[in-house]
Amino acid sequence: MSTTLITGGTVVTATGRSEADVLIDGETIVGVLNPGSVLLGSDLASSVDHVIDAKGKYVIPGGVDAHTHMELPFGGTAASDTFETGTRAAAWGGTTTIIDFAVQTFGQKVMDGLAAWHAKAAGNCAIDYAFHQIIGEVNDDSLAAMKKLPDEGISSFKLFMAYPGVFMSDDAQIFKAMQVSADTGMMTMMHAENGPVIDVIVKQLLAQGKTDPYYHGVARAWQMEEEATHRAIMLANLTGAPLYVVHVSAKQAVEQLAAARDIGQNVFGETCPQYLYLSLEEQLGAESAEWGKFEGAKWVCSTPLRSKAEGHQHHMWQSLRTNDIQMVSTDHCPFCMKGQKDLGLGDFSKIPNGIGSVEHRMDLLYQGVVDGQISLERWVEITSTTPARMFGLYGKKGVIQPGADADIVIYDPQGHTSIGYGEGKTHHMNMDHSAWEGFEIDGHVDTVLSRGKVVIDNNEYLGAKGDGKFVKRGLSQYLI
Ligand code: URP
Ligand code: ZN
Ligand code: ZN
Repeated sequence: MSTTLITGGTVVTATGRSEADVLIDGETIVGVLNPGSVLLGSDLASSVDHVIDAKGKYVIPGGVDAHTHMELPFGGTAASDTFETGTRAAAWGGTTTIIDFAVQTFGQKVMDGLAAWHAKAAGNCAIDYAFHQIIGEVNDDSLAAMKKLPDEGISSFKLFMAYPGVFMSDDAQIFKAMQVSADTGMMTMMHAENGPVIDVIVKQLLAQGKTDPYYHGVARAWQMEEEATHRAIMLANLTGAPLYVVHVSAKQAVEQLAAARDIGQNVFGETCPQYLYLSLEEQLGAESAEWGKFEGAKWVCSTPLRSKAEGHQHHMWQSLRTNDIQMVSTDHCPFCMKGQKDLGLGDFSKIPNGIGSVEHRMDLLYQGVVDGQISLERWVEITSTTPARMFGLYGKKGVIQPGADADIVIYDPQGHTSIGYGEGKTHHMNMDHSAWEGFEIDGHVDTVLSRGKVVIDNNEYLGAKGDGKFVKRGLSQYLI
């Protein structure tokens, strides 16, 4: 086993910051020590195998992105990042664990869906990975199978109130699945949008000749997110299921979550970088020589981008400060413009939904620190510590303490990152564009360790396919 000392940096955790050295033995953190500590008469730096100088830099636990979709079949195509390309891009951006969604499609057995996801990921990942389970058909068979998921290290499942005929569960199905969630302690994750009403609006808009990508957001009005969020909360209240609402974008949906939390319900919410930085107005204004108004397809995702003028973005940052929203995931679901998004030329409803961001979450949220939106500690909390606690990984992931996996990012606050697709920019995701083109970050991911191995250093990838291992998860640590 080789030993490494990260020395001279400022260790930042969810609870504070201190000048400290971090000692790693093999894959594990074994000490957080006073700078310049002495062991058996000699200083540590001269007795370890490797020393990493982190002077002037932040030493933080690696990011945990609890919502990704590598290779997800969607809208007649599949998300363009494989587990290999997507996890490597994640590493570049300082994320050292992803939780991806295994899928049970309609008519499929849950355990077959899970096995298919293991087959896609095993031996291909650059960083550690875990799974949630999408339940695409709630029936007696899948309800029975769901009870066995915790034994497989899967402690959460996602249901959809949107996408009728594909993934959507009706209220009776949601109720039954939530009863399993209440019995087992598994977290119910909910895509909260009223799909049937949205589908009517989509048809009406298309009939009026409103086919541009912008109308995707018009069709998926915030009222349909608020209504579904409220319904999910009420069903969770009735069953006693813990509820985690994914990709929250509407301020009214946040208000529903906050009200439920205020009466003590186990209800949680995540937002994503796109709802903090991008808006429906920008999507409306998007136009390029290559794509014309179809340029806006780059930002078609569900829930959709919201109107900045209506204050959703502002409210989302505020909610991160007040803990009405507990964490930030990417909902990484990348599609290329050519051959994928362009399936929706002339009909916005055929544009595959999703944005690629797995590489940029840590940077984009760090910019929130620079801009005075969140504190340094809150940055670590919402990108690493809370995701680990929420989904049963904490102790190994999400923290710098003895016994934890040595998943560590050395972040340079004096560095700079130009996000985008072109020359001299960051971009390692398997996409032909960046949804984040032109974003400039006042900081930089310098070095990334994944279970003690340096996988990114000095703008170079040093890891290998298969470094990342499947991690079994326990129940959420936010439940009593
Ligand atoms: O647009 C999105 N969010 N695509 C991925 C699927 C989902 O609903 O999370
Ligand atoms: Zn969703
Ligand atoms: Zn998603």
